[in-house]
Amino acid sequence: MSRATQVAKVADRERTAARLLKSSADKFYDPLIDIDWDAPVVAGKHYHPEHRVSLYGTDLWDRMTPEQRIELGKHEIASIASNGIFFEVLLMQMLLKQVYKHDPTSDHVHYMLAEIADECRHSTMFGKACKRFGAPAYGPPWWVRQLAKALPVFGQGPSAYAAILVAEEVLDRMQRENMNDEGLQPLIRMVNRIHVLEEARHVTFARQEVVQGMANAGPVARHYHRALTAVVSYFVMLCLINPRVYAAVGLDPKAAARAAKRNPHFRATLHYWGERIMKFLDEAGLVGGPTMPLWRKAGLVKK
Ligand SMILES: [Fe+2]
Ligand SMILES: [Fe+2]
Repeated sequence: MSRATQVAKVADRERTAARLLKSSADKFYDPLIDIDWDAPVVAGKHYHPEHRVSLYGTDLWDRMTPEQRIELGKHEIASIASNGIFFEVLLMQMLLKQVYKHDPTSDHVHYMLAEIADECRHSTMFGKACKRFGAPAYGPPWWVRQLAKALPVFGQGPSAYAAILVAEEVLDRMQRENMNDEGLQPLIRMVNRIHVLEEARHVTFARQEVVQGMANAGPVARHYHRALTAVVSYFVMLCLINPRVYAAVGLDPKAAARAAKRNPHFRATLHYWGERIMKFLDEAGLVGGPTMPLWRKAGLVKK
């Protein structure tokens, strides 16, 4: 990279960071103050839209009672939110490592610290929501937790941001729909609204890091970033619904997970949640080549 390009890149980063810092100061929520955690649960309202529940449209679904369907939606949203916590904590680790490496007087570092503060509040909010509704914070299976320890070590540059963007943008697409759904619990809608509002900054920041990182990557690095993005994205999608949610509503977890995997409605939902981020990753040169079967298995590219 020439000296002039490097200077322009740093100036660009600083401009974006300054703008995002201003937005962080203007618009943010504190879930401990801004959410009434004692508000009553509204009888008959859902926690997750029925058509987005993993078993919607299957034979198993037809045999479930209306109460069981609401309950499954509640456990699925707890599984998704607790995976959100898991990926937010991973992102915080990676951001903290960047803070160490860069100039602490720069807006770039100040913004990374602001984003870590946002994620601290989000993880608290998701944890409190699971507790409020009496659902476990399922998170990913233990073996994914072990594998994920390697991400802050291997996840450097554009693929680290791209992988986190998949988690953030999949959640964001789901939450934008849910925050406007009047059939859902008001508390769930508020959690979604807060997260959507604050995540918009994170998406802008990470997208810029991906675009700049890929523009500077050589051919070998591009292959590496493509592979790592596909592998992590696959795990993000695989973890969203922990099979223990099925046992929580009295279903056989293995049979129900199999039915969800084959369910064309749920595959359409996964594709819908990933549509926006996949378009971006494709344009950034992160989708293609030998990783395509993994994207298809993840439900992010149609079979
Ligand atoms: Fe977040
Ligand atoms: Fe975020």
